[in-house]
Amino acid sequence: MEKIYIETYGCQMNFADSEVIASILHGAGYGVSGSVEEADFILINTCAIRDNAEQRVRHRVRELRAMQTRRPGLRVGVLGCMAERLQSRLMAEEDNVSFVCGPDAYRRLPAMLADVRRGGKAADVELSTTETYADIEPVRLAGNGISAYISIMRGCQNYCSYCVVPYTRGRERSRDPQTIVDEARTLFGRGYREVTLLGQNVNSYCWQGADGVPTTFPELMDRVAAIDPRLRVRFATSHPKDLSDKLLEVMAAHDNICRCIHLPVQSGSDRMLKLMNRKYTVEWYLDRVASIRRHLPDCSITTDVIAGFCGETLEDHELTLELFRTVRYDYAFMFKYSQREGTYASRHMADDISEAEKTRRLNEIIALQGRIALENNREEVGRVYEVLVEGESHRSKERLFGRNSQNKVLVFDRGDAVAGTYRRVRVDDVTAATLLGTLV
Ligand code: SAH
Ligand code: SF4
Ligand code: F3S
Repeated sequence: MEKIYIETYGCQMNFADSEVIASILHGAGYGVSGSVEEADFILINTCAIRDNAEQRVRHRVRELRAMQTRRPGLRVGVLGCMAERLQSRLMAEEDNVSFVCGPDAYRRLPAMLADVRRGGKAADVELSTTETYADIEPVRLAGNGISAYISIMRGCQNYCSYCVVPYTRGRERSRDPQTIVDEARTLFGRGYREVTLLGQNVNSYCWQGADGVPTTFPELMDRVAAIDPRLRVRFATSHPKDLSDKLLEVMAAHDNICRCIHLPVQSGSDRMLKLMNRKYTVEWYLDRVASIRRHLPDCSITTDVIAGFCGETLEDHELTLELFRTVRYDYAFMFKYSQREGTYASRHMADDISEAEKTRRLNEIIALQGRIALENNREEVGRVYEVLVEGESHRSKERLFGRNSQNKVLVFDRGDAVAGTYRRVRVDDVTAATLLGTLV
């Protein structure tokens, strides 16, 4: 039996896709290996969101060339967003790559691998308006048997001016809700206790049933949360323009929908938000934050932000810092703007903030957010949380770790706690990233 090895970069959706890819190739008779050394095919599932994500993949592809010299039968393929963006250009530039496959073409991988096996090269980067892989049961790769991703939609057509995703992932389409509920129920039956529903903008999830009756995201959440109160439900990502009170009401009605909302803001300046084509203002965003706090007082809020977008002035940057001070995020993913070929910004706006200045602004945001996260965490001391135990702490076998509903990591002495169960933990001490506690 020939073996494949999948290496995944990028967002959670790519990790979910790799599990679909493993399932498709397993079904075609390939073994799915956990080791590069015994693989006949190495599949690299890639990200194109920023230039450094692509550089990392190119570096890896070149590193694999040495292994291919030692083992001439070994074939390397590039999948995912970078494959979609660069298409066969990638095989010309990196000549040890034998196949490229875009995010909507994974069902054709068995045929592509067969071509490659006969010594050819293969490329399939066709995007689809309907593919959701709804009928494919993912092979859970390297999971902990406790939490799993479920992809509920694909694509994005928001066309934020800086973003490559609409070009690499195609039109937005939602997956049949029944297949989502069934997948979550099956996972629960196998002992899983947490599912994360994934989409680039889950709030615009909408399935048109055969009867013409639509299912929206709040309705889908309601159905998944009703499977069992012991199954935690998370979701990502929420676009602020579509975060509805209806969703917050559904969350409030189910204790097992986790109290954590990822609400990427990108900038605290209305002028930048307009140039970014985000379709909301700071006032709108703060109103959504206020609504979250009203409906779910214990909800954590996290974000994404971009430093140094085209034409960003010091005043715009200061407004971002101001917004961070106002919202006091529990966590933030912070990035320097990276110009992406083909996007509206790359065609119509100048990438005019120097690399050094982008770094300076980014570091300022990182330092501020670090202080805020630590201050937020200090307020946690003495609180008791229900924690889903996930496993041993990386630092010590004597300690376990898990997350609370707010998605904060708690580390505590193992006692008689067992992975995959819920335990109550009191917070004794904190860092900016972790809560340290004791079983109660
Ligand atoms: N769909 C999600 C984001 C997906 S991409 C949303 O709209 O919120 C994840 C994050 O990468 C984005 O939120 C943004 O902060 C960042 N990002 C996207 N394109 C970027 C670029 N060209 N340069 C730097 N960061 C970028
Ligand atoms: Fe990119 Fe905007 Fe779509 Fe998010 S919503 S994936 S940032 S285009
Ligand atoms: Fe990257 Fe594609 Fe996800 S560009 S962030 S892997 S959708």
